[in-house]
Amino acid sequence: MDPERGRRVTPGELKLVDTALGNVQLDPHIPRVHTPPAMFGAGGPMLKQFDQSSAASRVGSQAATPPRSVVGIGGKVAKPDYSEAKIVLAMVGLPARGKSYLSNKLMRYLKWLEYDVKVFNVGQLRRSRARQKAQQSGKKEDHTASYFSHANVEATKLRDQLATDSLEMLIQWLREGGNVGIHDATNSTRSRRAKIEERVAQEKGFVTIFLESVCDDPAVIAANVALKVSSGDPDYKDMSREEAKADFLRRIKQYEGVYETITEPHLSYLRIINVGSQVTVCRINGYLQSRIAFYLMNLHLKPRSIFFSRHGESQYNVEGKIGGDSALSERGQKYARALPALITDNIGDAPLTVWTSTLQRTIQTAQHLPYNKLTWKSLDELDAGVCDGMTYEEIEQAYPDDFAHRDEDKFNYRYRGGESYRDVVVRLEPVIMELERQENILIIGHQAILRCLYAYFHNLPQADLPYIKIPLHTVIKLTPKAYGCDEERYTLPIGAVDTHRPKPGSTPQPSQIGGFGREYYGEKA
Ligand code: F6P
Repeated sequence: MDPERGRRVTPGELKLVDTALGNVQLDPHIPRVHTPPAMFGAGGPMLKQFDQSSAASRVGSQAATPPRSVVGIGGKVAKPDYSEAKIVLAMVGLPARGKSYLSNKLMRYLKWLEYDVKVFNVGQLRRSRARQKAQQSGKKEDHTASYFSHANVEATKLRDQLATDSLEMLIQWLREGGNVGIHDATNSTRSRRAKIEERVAQEKGFVTIFLESVCDDPAVIAANVALKVSSGDPDYKDMSREEAKADFLRRIKQYEGVYETITEPHLSYLRIINVGSQVTVCRINGYLQSRIAFYLMNLHLKPRSIFFSRHGESQYNVEGKIGGDSALSERGQKYARALPALITDNIGDAPLTVWTSTLQRTIQTAQHLPYNKLTWKSLDELDAGVCDGMTYEEIEQAYPDDFAHRDEDKFNYRYRGGESYRDVVVRLEPVIMELERQENILIIGHQAILRCLYAYFHNLPQADLPYIKIPLHTVIKLTPKAYGCDEERYTLPIGAVDTHRPKPGSTPQPSQIGGFGREYYGEKA
C-alpha cells in the first residue's frame, strides 16, 4: 500500500506547484486563477490551474509564424506513424476453408486504414518456383493431389521449404517497413506452427497471430471447391472441371490425414468457424491485434447487396456551393420520388435497411422509401471547415495557394476547422464494421463519403480515392464476391449538375470499375 496515497497535499507542496505554474508564460488575456489550496481531483481548482498552463501552450501555437500546416485555410496532414506495428498473421486451415478469402478481405480493410499489408501465398510461390524449374529443366513438376500427400517424403520436404521461404520473405518485408504480413498457407500441423512462432520470436517487436478457418458447412466447402476449379486457378488450367474437382477433393483428403486444429494453449490465435457463425479469440493483446479480431468477428458470407446513392441534387449543388445543409432542388425531389421504384424493382421482397446522414438532403432523398431507416452522424459529408458554403471558384480566388495544395494531395489535405479525406476514412470505420455485419443496405450519402466507402469495397488506393466518380441521380449496386465486388450502376433520367472536379492535368478515369479477381502472379482469375 502506498503510504502517500489518500493524504492531503501540504501547503508547502502547493506552493512549489504554484511557483512552477507561475513560471509558465501565460497568455496575458487569460486571467490567472488564484485558488485556495485544495486537493487534486476532477474539476478541482488545481486541475483548472494546469488547464490554464496548457491553454498557454495552445495559444502559443498560434504565434506570429505559424507552422506551415496551418497557414491559409488548411494544410496537408501527415499519415499517423504505424512503423511500430509488425504482425505476422499466419493462416491455418484445410484447403477450401476460405483462408485466401479471409486474407484478402483483411488486407483490403487494413490497407484502407493505411496499414502496409501484404499476403504471402505459399501456393503462388510453389507455382512460380515450379514454372522457373520447368523453364530451366524442361520438366514439369507434378502438383496433382499426390504431391500433397504426407507419404510423399520428397514433396513434403519441398512444401516445408516453400513455407519457410515464404515466411522469410514476409519477415524481410516487415523489416523493410511493412506492418502486417499474412502467411497464406495451411500451417496445419503443430510442428509447422511451432516453427513459425519460434522464427518470428527472433525478430524484435514482431508478433505472431494464427488465424484458423474451420468450416464444416458442406455448402460453403462446395462453393469454395467450385470457385477453385472454375476461377482459372493455374493448378487446374490443363484439366476439365470434373478432373479438377476430383483432384482438389483428393488434395483435401491428404491434408485431412495430418490436420491438427489449434490446441496449443500458449498461442495467440483466432478461430473462425463457418465464417460468421462463431469466433474464438485467444490471447489477443494490443490495439491492432484487437482491431483485426473485431473485424473478423463481423464478417459473414450471406449473399447480399450494398447500394450507394448520393442524395438528390441539392440547392447548394445547383449553386455550386460545397458543404452546408441545403434542401433538395426540384430535380432532387424528383429523384427522391423515383428512387423507391428503382430499388424495389431491383431487390424485390428482400429486406433492406436505408442509412442516411443527419443532413436534410439525404433524409429528404430517403423519405419515400418504404424501408427501415437509420440516421448516422458518421455519414455526414466531409466537413469543409472555413470553406463550408463557398463555391470552388470562390475558394480559388480567396485562397489560390490552398486550392492548389488540395489538388496536389487531396487525400491528406485538411480544411482549416474541417476534415481531410483521411479524417473521413477514420470516422467511417464503424460504418464499415456495421456494413460487414449487415445484409442488404442502401446508403444515401454524399460525394466524399461514398468515395471512401467505395474505395474500401474496390480496394482503391488513397491517392485515387478523392477523385472517384460518384454522380448524382445514380444508384451503385455492389455485390460482394469471393475476391472483391461486382458492380452495376443505374442512372435515372433526371438531370443533375456534375459536381466532380477532376484532378487538374489528369486523364479522365473510367466511371465504372469491375473485374476484381484474385491475382495469380499477374494473371487475373
Ligand atoms: O459538391 C458536393 C460535395 O458533396 C460538397 O459538399 C463537398 O465538399 C464535396 O462534394 C466533396 O468533394 P471534393 O472533395 O471533390 O471537393
